[in-house]
Amino acid sequence: MSHDPLANDPLANKKQAWSALFSEPMSELVKRYTASVGFDQRLWRADIDGSLAHAAMLQAQGIIGADDLAAIQRGMAQIVADIEAGRFEWKLELEDVHLNIEARLTTLVGDAGKRLHTGRSRNDQVATDVRLWLRGEIDKINLLLVDMQRALVDLAAQHTDTVMPGYTHMQVAQPVSFAHHLLAYVEMFSRDAERLQDVRKRTNQLPLGAAALAGTSYPLDREAVARALGFDGVCQNSLDAVSDRDFALEFSAFATISMVHVSRLAEEIVLWMSQNFGFIDLADRYCTGSSIMPQKRNPDVAELARGKSGRVVGHLMGLITLMKGQPLTYNKDNQEDKEPLFDTVDTLSDTLRIMAEMVGGISVKKEAMERAALKGYATATDLADYLVKKGLPFRDAHETVAHAVKIAIQRGVDLAELPLAELQTLNASITADVAEVLTLRGSLNARQVSGGTAPVQVRAQIERHRQRLAA
Ligand code: ARG
Repeated sequence: MSHDPLANDPLANKKQAWSALFSEPMSELVKRYTASVGFDQRLWRADIDGSLAHAAMLQAQGIIGADDLAAIQRGMAQIVADIEAGRFEWKLELEDVHLNIEARLTTLVGDAGKRLHTGRSRNDQVATDVRLWLRGEIDKINLLLVDMQRALVDLAAQHTDTVMPGYTHMQVAQPVSFAHHLLAYVEMFSRDAERLQDVRKRTNQLPLGAAALAGTSYPLDREAVARALGFDGVCQNSLDAVSDRDFALEFSAFATISMVHVSRLAEEIVLWMSQNFGFIDLADRYCTGSSIMPQKRNPDVAELARGKSGRVVGHLMGLITLMKGQPLTYNKDNQEDKEPLFDTVDTLSDTLRIMAEMVGGISVKKEAMERAALKGYATATDLADYLVKKGLPFRDAHETVAHAVKIAIQRGVDLAELPLAELQTLNASITADVAEVLTLRGSLNARQVSGGTAPVQVRAQIERHRQRLAA
């Protein structure tokens, strides 16, 4: 098989015009405007895997010969080697990753390359490629979510007895353990992981066989291709198969929610590290300095993680708007799904990785946390609960404690520092055992309800998470 490469390249005439139908070549500007190869070459491996599975099925169904399949496999192996070695020449005039690889294949192996596209269109091809590629990224992100949860659980395990103020309205509310606070984020990231598995199910369906939009007259075995590529099933309507991008929207929504969780954690890290809180310190390798203020160590990584959530939110809006109003079936609009999707994957992956590492480098200033918890009358609810146990209706107890807090504020002391006699003037049933109730640890230990901040409960949660994450 030796031939003039151009004669064997069905797309060579594209350098002139698309096909015999066209009387003039595409303008340079249009070429650049419509080309996607600059970014979609990232899909090359999925594109080749999809083509190899399609070709093997075509051969098994007797649509192409065994020699054609062997030639396609040989050519693709060469292309993989060239791309991996950075030797592959991506051509703008060949528009996208699909046409670039197919043209190169035909140059390498001749007619067999021209047979590959039998029963297939770039419409079902690109939908397949994006799903295959995204599935791989989903599996990697799932591991990053596990790492993130493990980092938080490991830090939490050291701090089930470290007391900090719990806040509502950013005002000191009740004491909680630092471990309990961290485990709130573990819950968020574990929900993200569940959502991601749900997205994976609908991503992992095979569009190939839909061809341009209506299906194909060749006796394709779609189930065999699905099995070969590890898909869970095949898309059941050819029109939907080529036009559906729900999986990308769902992934983007998942990523947005997860970045919002990261952003909330990042914001707390920034606050906790500020001099006004002084609750934690970050390892130097996660901080940057200032070019003018020599004293500064800034939590840039956390700030960037918070900031980068903006672009992921933006991509979700972009993708949803991209799909809105598109008539069935494939429209070139869909080419615009890739850059936001790629950037979403990259941003989320990098952010999860760096935040998990950074959490591992947090050092905790227990005394500062505890001092802050002592400031805002955080045990006032405990005093009210104490009075309820003595027989007072809760609303009356609430009012009584408000008086106690007022006195404490006037004296500039904590509730625990008010003399017993003083408390007894507010309610005679208060006795010496109130002292324990008014301490931070007494307050923590009292919250034994499941899901509460008592160290026993929190330790049980840590154990549950460890088992779940080991699986
Ligand atoms: N580059 C295109 C995309 O990303 C591939 C599909 C093009 N199909 C077509 N009929 N123009 O969507």
